[in-house]
Amino acid sequence: MTEHFRVHGGARLVGAVDVVGAKNSVLKLMAAALLAEGTTTLTNCPRILDVPLMADVLRSLGCVVEIDGDTVVITTPGELNHRADSASMGKLRASVCVLGPLIGRCKRAVVALPGGDAIGSRPLDMHQNGLRQLGAHSEIDHGCVVAEAKGLHGAQIWLDFPSVGATENILMAAVLANGTTVIDNAAREPEIVDLCTMLQQMGGKIEGAGTSTLTVHGVDSLQPTEHRVIGDRIVGATWAFAAAMTRGDVTVRGVDPHHLDLVLEKLRMAGADVTVPSHPLRPAGGRDGAPPPTDSQEFRVRQADRPTAVDFVTLPYPGFATDLQPFAIALASIAEGTSMITENLFEARFRFIEEMVRLGADARTDGHHAVVRGVERLSSAPVWAPDIRAGVGLVLAGLCAEGTTEVWDVFHIDRGYPLFVENMTNLGADVRRVNAEPERA
Ligand code: EPU
Repeated sequence: MTEHFRVHGGARLVGAVDVVGAKNSVLKLMAAALLAEGTTTLTNCPRILDVPLMADVLRSLGCVVEIDGDTVVITTPGELNHRADSASMGKLRASVCVLGPLIGRCKRAVVALPGGDAIGSRPLDMHQNGLRQLGAHSEIDHGCVVAEAKGLHGAQIWLDFPSVGATENILMAAVLANGTTVIDNAAREPEIVDLCTMLQQMGGKIEGAGTSTLTVHGVDSLQPTEHRVIGDRIVGATWAFAAAMTRGDVTVRGVDPHHLDLVLEKLRMAGADVTVPSHPLRPAGGRDGAPPPTDSQEFRVRQADRPTAVDFVTLPYPGFATDLQPFAIALASIAEGTSMITENLFEARFRFIEEMVRLGADARTDGHHAVVRGVERLSSAPVWAPDIRAGVGLVLAGLCAEGTTEVWDVFHIDRGYPLFVENMTNLGADVRRVNAEPERA
């Protein structure tokens, strides 16, 4: 039986929602546990399909992994198996992040090419180039990255693009290299900062986390640690868009609103009232009269009227995240006016527009830009989720459609969103999980 979500449009989303740890952090932190012999504990982990898949990958390398609710306990042996080619490797992108730790620990690795979302070409050239500069030569052989190093040494590495995955792999190899590595044009995503924080707790010597220059002073060994995963900014933003699109009122808890500065500003431009409860870290009246930074992990989004059209351009952090692009299109599809959305990272992410058109969206794309003329109301239809974020974008659109929208292939959504239907229902949406066979149009 194939599962789908039945979304009955028209409800305003109202209430509070708790967001747990970030998918794109926890999977890398699980890989980082390979770097230290002993038991590493991760808390605030999301209960999503990708976590047990990554646990399988680690088990195939010799780790013992226990998942108990939101806690993942990983016991890493002194001698790791260097071959990561289990069936689970092909099911998620983050599995490639075992490459850096395996080279760091074993000085060799055979890592099956990763799977994950079909959102466009996802080469590994920057991962391989960076690792080569550290002394590890690699090639693609029979669907695997095969890498070997006599020893790892510090290097000056300039990334062509601030790739999240390449930054993570190079970082995790460099922490155990001989000497100092400087990664320039490094990714600055909050999930990279989370990884640096955990590596520092393990004894890694890293400077510049959250900036585009990471300096890593290699150490001989790392120790296991206990670490709380940061809140999922992409899931948090999902609820923010849902509130704005349904003219709702949603408080999102468990996410640092500063990780969503640009997103929340865009929603303000669309007419939302966005508030962040202030827990000042220092008194008001700081430099340039700027509001004081807060340590709040909460924000509220209220929207009274039809959203106004806003343009979006996806870029690496702190730009507007490509993962949020489907929500930008969903918002634009019901906004007053015309929006231009530019996708700079993954060319195939606009495939989702075909599904939006089934729902009555007035949208067209040349593959790099999308022009979306907002309509008053979408109309329900059966649609197919092409990947995690696009799947959720279709549910958000269904909330604003007349009638009942069926969203198929929801296993994508289950890979990244814990308790998705439950959270929707708690906020007042009429979204149900149904088992039935689709009749494709
Ligand atoms: N790229 C290369 N060569 C490389 C690596 C990347 O050309 O060696 C290109 C990619 O093709 C892409 C761009 O660089 O055009 C950015 O890719 P990046 O390496 O930053 O992405 P990633 O590490 O593969 C992670 C997230 C994605 C998220 C991107 C961008 C994980 C598991 N995945 O992917 O998340 O979209 O960063 O922020 O962390 C999702 O969660 O739905 C998702 C797809």
